[in-house]
Amino acid sequence: MSQILPDPCPTLPVETGPNEDGVGIWVPEQKHRLLHEYLTASRYAWRKWPNRVFIDPFCGPGRIRVREEDFTRDGGAIVAWRALAEVAPFTAMLVGDKDPTRAAACEARLTALGAPVKAFQGPASDTVPRMVAAVPAGALCCAYVDPYNLEYLSFDILKTLAALKVDLAINFSTMDLTRNVELEFDSDRRRFDGTAPGWQAVDAITKASKANMPGEFFKYWCGLVEGLGFEYSREMPLVRNDQGRPIYRMVFFARHDLPKRIWADVARGPNRTLDLFEGD
Ligand SMILES: C[S@@+](CC[C@H](N)C(=O)[O-])C[C@H]1O[C@@H](n2cnc3c(N)ncnc32)[C@H](O)[C@@H]1O
Repeated sequence: MSQILPDPCPTLPVETGPNEDGVGIWVPEQKHRLLHEYLTASRYAWRKWPNRVFIDPFCGPGRIRVREEDFTRDGGAIVAWRALAEVAPFTAMLVGDKDPTRAAACEARLTALGAPVKAFQGPASDTVPRMVAAVPAGALCCAYVDPYNLEYLSFDILKTLAALKVDLAINFSTMDLTRNVELEFDSDRRRFDGTAPGWQAVDAITKASKANMPGEFFKYWCGLVEGLGFEYSREMPLVRNDQGRPIYRMVFFARHDLPKRIWADVARGPNRTLDLFEGD
């Protein structure tokens, strides 16, 4: 887990989860740990690039409080900044959130740490095209895509990011998928149509058993992202909530072997996955 360091802006808002009672310990222990370890392990590769950009369209306020803890910890964008700060600091941190107070808090915390940050307020579907336009030509980028649920993991966002030289670290909500995939056939809902366009016409999904449907949807989605010129890492750790139930997979896409190898090294562990939806 990343070190607990002081909040550079202790009066600003903190992420405390949907019930405001704190986020699960899995956020720092799994989600942020992996982001930190991946960036740290790849720091010398980043150093070769003059322009290094971190893109976080669902950034939150940059600080979290875990349930039953009386102190706070870094949020994802701050974890990412600190991971490269010593060796190859990001030359631009592009952070965005639908909630303007969260985007502003994340910006203020990064600024206080000396990061060159630009904040974008609004839904990711609006901010990502603006973020991509702000990236200098030839920059190496890492996009951390961390929405609460699948509905906001719009495929258009990934398509827009694909114009860049970018690796994608995506938190894919398997809980939302497993609970709701059958319901989303309903024409009044269809929350997943933007996530995986065309999924309702895929035989492998429509003809799958209830138990296999989430896995078939996930395979189809991975195939769509591969169609943008990426390869996914077979190491896609399963993140579990405090009750041990699977909630996310952390999925990594890259266009080259080196980042995939580094990701595989840090992501390999007890939750290692060989089959795409094994154990969900
Ligand atoms: C899981 S939290 C982000 C946590 C943060 N990435 C971290 O690691 O500390 C998701 C964030 O997305 C924001 N959000 C929700 N819907 C959004 C949308 N459509 N576009 C951009 N941000 C959105 C929420 O306000 C919330 O701050």
